[in-house]
Amino acid sequence: MRIFSGIQPTGRKHLGNYLGAIVQYVEGQQRAADAGDVAIYCVVDLHAMTVPWEPAEMRERVYDTAAVLLAAGLDPEQCIFIRQSDMPEHTELAWHLGAVTSHGDLNRMHQFKEKSARQRDLISADLFTYPVLMAADVLAYRANEVPVGDDQRQHVELMRDVAQRFNDRFGEVLVVPELRIPSVGARIMDLQDPTSKMSTTGGSVEGTVYVLDEPKAVEKKFKRAVTDSEDPPRIVRGASKPGVSNLIDILSATRGMTPDEVEASLADARGYGDLKVATADAVNELLAPVRERYTALRADEDALEAIFAAGAEKARAITQPTLRDVRAAMGIGPRT
Ligand code: TRP
Repeated sequence: MRIFSGIQPTGRKHLGNYLGAIVQYVEGQQRAADAGDVAIYCVVDLHAMTVPWEPAEMRERVYDTAAVLLAAGLDPEQCIFIRQSDMPEHTELAWHLGAVTSHGDLNRMHQFKEKSARQRDLISADLFTYPVLMAADVLAYRANEVPVGDDQRQHVELMRDVAQRFNDRFGEVLVVPELRIPSVGARIMDLQDPTSKMSTTGGSVEGTVYVLDEPKAVEKKFKRAVTDSEDPPRIVRGASKPGVSNLIDILSATRGMTPDEVEASLADARGYGDLKVATADAVNELLAPVRERYTALRADEDALEAIFAAGAEKARAITQPTLRDVRAAMGIGPRT
């Protein structure tokens, strides 16, 4: 069982990213290794170039993201940790997959519609073909499983269609991967607006807890979290209690308890203040060591480059044979 996922080098990572994607990556590298295979995690700087970007900042954001992931427990000895732009096989395969990708399907992608509507001067061709590169990222490794957020569902469905169409036309060369949506992170909501997801783009700063926030800032954000005015207050989940439900979910995810256990543990609480303090403490206990490791890792850019170089070498041992098979099946390149 081989896992592949990509993570954007844009934006600061928040608690929703951490509990949803990042924790699942760390768990995945172990699960893949136990199954005698490997998990591949890729910082997708080429995808970050599909909307306007600042060249002077791009490499910095890649280092930031790499340091967060390593601090959270990605182990470059156990998994394959790469930077997308180090891997020409991804872009080469993207071209080949373009031959079996329908223009009409790309035109139906929700993310393309949303992002293209936001562009002021240029809607780049790369934004349009973004899902083809994403398909190539995964298919180059013949990965079986793709852990992503719910917003990437349509892209994974497209990559499955593309792999299937390739195999139908050229023979069984590629593996059709399965989507895997994390159960927890998908549900982490903004603390100020608990009916919308915690997010770097849409959300409020006050309602978004960043992995690298100082403990004081974390405490403050939880203290000000929106709850409800039920009197007496009840620390239970419910559709009419999105703020309280969100805090219970966060506490349960950070402490590794079920939401029922969390509710039971707070049965004697005096009010929502107790729930907020317990949640802030749990989040700080989880993130403080990550923040410390981040600072050390981020300070040594040469070491990060060395990790990427070693990752790319391991990655090429998988992607180069795939590309050889793809070229042979499509009838391009030298005779084999
Ligand atoms: N598009 C994904 C996102 O924005 C990132 C990504 C790029 C990805 N390539 C991937 C995710 C391959 C999974 C597999 O979240």
